[in-house]
Amino acid sequence: MIGAFAYRDGQLMAEGIALGDIAARFGTPCYVYSRQAIEARWQAYNEAFGDTDHLICYAVKANSNLAILDTLARLGSGFDIVSGGELQRVIEAGGEPEKTVFSGVGKQADEMHKALDVGIKCFNVESLEELDRLNQVAAERDVKAPVSFRVNPDVDVKTHPYIATGLKQNKFGIPWEEAFTAYEQAASMNHIEVTGIDCHIGSQITAIDPFINALERLMDLTRQIEAAGITLRHIDVGGGLGIPYKDESPPTEAEFVSALRQVFANRVEQIIIEPGRSIVGNAGVLLTRVEYLKHTPHKNFAIVDAAMNDLLRPSLYGAWHEILPVHEAPPGEQTYDIVGPVCETGDFLGQGRTLDLRVGDLLAVGSAGAYGFCMSSNYNTRPRACEVMLDKGVMHEIRKRETVADLLQPETTLP
Ligand code: LLP
Repeated sequence: MIGAFAYRDGQLMAEGIALGDIAARFGTPCYVYSRQAIEARWQAYNEAFGDTDHLICYAVKANSNLAILDTLARLGSGFDIVSGGELQRVIEAGGEPEKTVFSGVGKQADEMHKALDVGIKCFNVESLEELDRLNQVAAERDVKAPVSFRVNPDVDVKTHPYIATGLKQNKFGIPWEEAFTAYEQAASMNHIEVTGIDCHIGSQITAIDPFINALERLMDLTRQIEAAGITLRHIDVGGGLGIPYKDESPPTEAEFVSALRQVFANRVEQIIIEPGRSIVGNAGVLLTRVEYLKHTPHKNFAIVDAAMNDLLRPSLYGAWHEILPVHEAPPGEQTYDIVGPVCETGDFLGQGRTLDLRVGDLLAVGSAGAYGFCMSSNYNTRPRACEVMLDKGVMHEIRKRETVADLLQPETTLP
């Protein structure tokens, strides 16, 4: 079993559909997601909040396919975006701008204009320089921009250094010791309306303590800000809850939310979370086919048709993803590195996996629903994979496979 995908009658399936049938119809490499699994994770968060005033802002960057955003918008989800492009996606998918928060350290003036135009919930402002620019943009439109400062709480989290964001040496957020002054400054600006406070300490976090430490620090600051006569309407603890890729056992959504609610007891502000990976990560797999089995005196390689351009996480973070045969088979005796066709030694999906393989076999790379397709590229002029969403026995192609013609179309040679 990997996430939402389990063997039945020797076939890896989800929502009553065999992955082999998906490969036969759409080819490989192909991303496959289960709608039911995505909805279940979102509902788990939502139910855990009970009657506490809350907003779940799905982090669009984790998987931004329109069908995924539409699925979540229909549940009433809010969204966390980091670019004008992501805002456009949310709108096209039927998401509500009033439930959308805009994070990121480098917001451009045109993105600010667009966000003010559609009326987003707030800008998660990450520097005083950004605050100044936002004040100017809002002045040009003669409106007030809703602002929440992303405060860097300087808490340590045990995750890959590239995805830890809440340490003082990271580029994110307003430094803890400058945050109060930032609020005073913002409150005095004509075109800024202070509405909240937020943080995001990192991703793939498998313990509760760092979240609680960060929230407690935010609450301290909130009390200080309140004492200065500035009212906050929401507290946003960001995303970051991890998922099991291998043998990790992160807190469940219920445990996570219940811990937040305890710290939050007696507060009146709305509580916001920005989960990405924990909603979509284990709802997806990357389907790929074995092209060659290459045996050398030193190592065995299974060369598959997916590569680092399709799923970058193993190459970039040394991330471990489960790799299972689509047709159930005994583990076998040979150990393989599962590699792609890209011309880089770092192009691998898994290393040292014991599998019983034949050319033409289908493999499923697990936990690929988050930071999979959305981080893919056309490196080596490889068209990007198609994406398929399963919904109660029906397969929907939610993104067509690119063709080489699609890739070449925007380019021109010199006259
Ligand atoms: N909010 C903010 C402001 C963020 O920067 C992020 C993720 C999230 C929410 C969602 O975090 P999540 O719940 O998904 O952990 N590409 C990396 C992950 C980068 C995460 C960046 N920020 C990976 O593949 O592991």
